[in-house]
Amino acid sequence: MKQPIVVGVVGCGYWGPNLVRNFRSLPTCNLKAMCDVSEARLKHLKTLYPEVEGITDFGHMLNGLGLDAVAIATPVKHHYQLAKASLLAGKHVLIEKPMAASSAECEELIDLAESKGLVLMVGHTFLYSTVVQKIADIVQAGDIGEIRYINSRRLNLGLFQKDINVAWDLAPHDISIILHVLGEFPLVVNCQGNAHVTPGIEDITNISLTFRHKRFATIQSSWLEPRKIRDMTIVGTRRMIVYDDLQTNEKLRIYDVRVERPPHYDTFADFHYSYHYGDSYIPHIKQEEPLKSECQHFLDCIEKGTKPLSSGYEGLELVRILEAASASLKEQGAPITFSRTKEIVPTLRRQPHTERAPQELVSA
Ligand SMILES: NC(=O)c1ccc[n+]([C@@H]2O[C@H](COP(=O)([O-])OP(=O)(O)OC[C@H]3O[C@@H](n4cnc5c(N)ncnc54)[C@H](O)[C@@H]3O)[C@@H](O)[C@H]2O)c1
Repeated sequence: MKQPIVVGVVGCGYWGPNLVRNFRSLPTCNLKAMCDVSEARLKHLKTLYPEVEGITDFGHMLNGLGLDAVAIATPVKHHYQLAKASLLAGKHVLIEKPMAASSAECEELIDLAESKGLVLMVGHTFLYSTVVQKIADIVQAGDIGEIRYINSRRLNLGLFQKDINVAWDLAPHDISIILHVLGEFPLVVNCQGNAHVTPGIEDITNISLTFRHKRFATIQSSWLEPRKIRDMTIVGTRRMIVYDDLQTNEKLRIYDVRVERPPHYDTFADFHYSYHYGDSYIPHIKQEEPLKSECQHFLDCIEKGTKPLSSGYEGLELVRILEAASASLKEQGAPITFSRTKEIVPTLRRQPHTERAPQELVSA
C-alpha cells in the first residue's frame, strides 16, 4: 500500500478547521500538524483532534515534521510568504482563495512551484461542488443555448474582514464559477462600492464583467444585508438556470423559458416578441461536501503529478480580476480593460464553449 501524503494545515481560525476535518477524514492523507499563531485556537482544536500536533512555530512545522504538503488558511496578506516558504522547503501547496494579495505574488509562486515540480493549488472550493459541475455540464452540452448573462449574489450580515474588502472576500466564489462555466477571461471589469462600517474597506460592491460576444456577468457582494443570499442566474438563449446554494436539496432549477424577436415584420402591428413558457425541472444531484472533494483532488494531483482544476493559473486569473475591480472602485466604476493577449491564454486550456467554433475563441 502507498504511504499516505503527510499534510500540515496553517491557519486554524474560521476556515482552517474545515480543512483539518476533511484532510483527517481522507484515507490517503496523514494529517500531521495544525499551525496557528494563536495558542487559544490550537488549544481548542487539540480538544477535537488530540492526535494531531498543534504548533505555533510555522518554521518548525515546515522543516521538522517530514511534511509532503501544506494547506494555507490564514488571512490573505500572509498567503504569499507562507506559500513561498513552503515551496522553497519542497512542499506541495494548497492556498485558500484568493491566492495572494497581488498578481505579482501569484506569478512568483507559480514560477517557483513549476521550477521545483511541485503542485500549487488554490481553494476555489465551488469548482468541486457537484452542483457547479452539473451547471458546467449543462452549459457544455449546449442545453441552455448561448449564455446571454449571469447574475450572482452573495449577501449576508458580516463576517467583516480587516485586511480585504467584500469583493476580495466573497466574489472569488462567484468569479471562479463564472470563469469555469464560460471558459474564458473577461475583456472589461467595472466595480462600484462603498465602505460604510470600516473606513477604506468596502462592505458592498457590485462587479460587472464583460466578455466577448456581449456576454455579461454581474456580481453583487455584501456584508451589510439582513438576509443571507447565495444565488446565481444563468440566462441562455434557449433555457435559464437558477442556482440557489441555500436550498438543501433542490439547489438547481432549469427553466424552459425564452424570449425571441420575430425574424422580420412589416408594420408595428405585426411586431410581437415571441415568449416561450415551458416546464421547469430540478435535476438530481448527488450531494458531497465540496471541500472534501477539493482536499482529495489536491492529494490526487500530488500522487499523480497532475495539474489541479484550480491551479496557480486559475488563482492568478482571479486575482487579476480582483485587482481590476479595486482599480475600478478607485475610479468610481470606470472600465478596466485587459489587453487580449497574455491574460486569456490560461483559460484556453479549458474546454471551449460548445456552441462556438474554435477559431472564435481566438478572434474577438
Ligand atoms: N474556500 C472557502 O469557501 C473559504 C471560506 C472562508 C474562508 N476562506 C479563506 O480562508 C482563509 C482564512 O480565512 P478565515 O475566515 O478562516 O480567517 P480567520 O481570521 O478566521 O483565521 C485565520 C487564522 O490564521 C491565523 N494566522 C494568521 N497569521 C498566521 C501565521 N503567520 N501563521 C499561522 N497562523 C496565522 C490566525 O491566528 C487565525 O486563527 C482566507 O484566505 C479566506 O478567504 C475560504
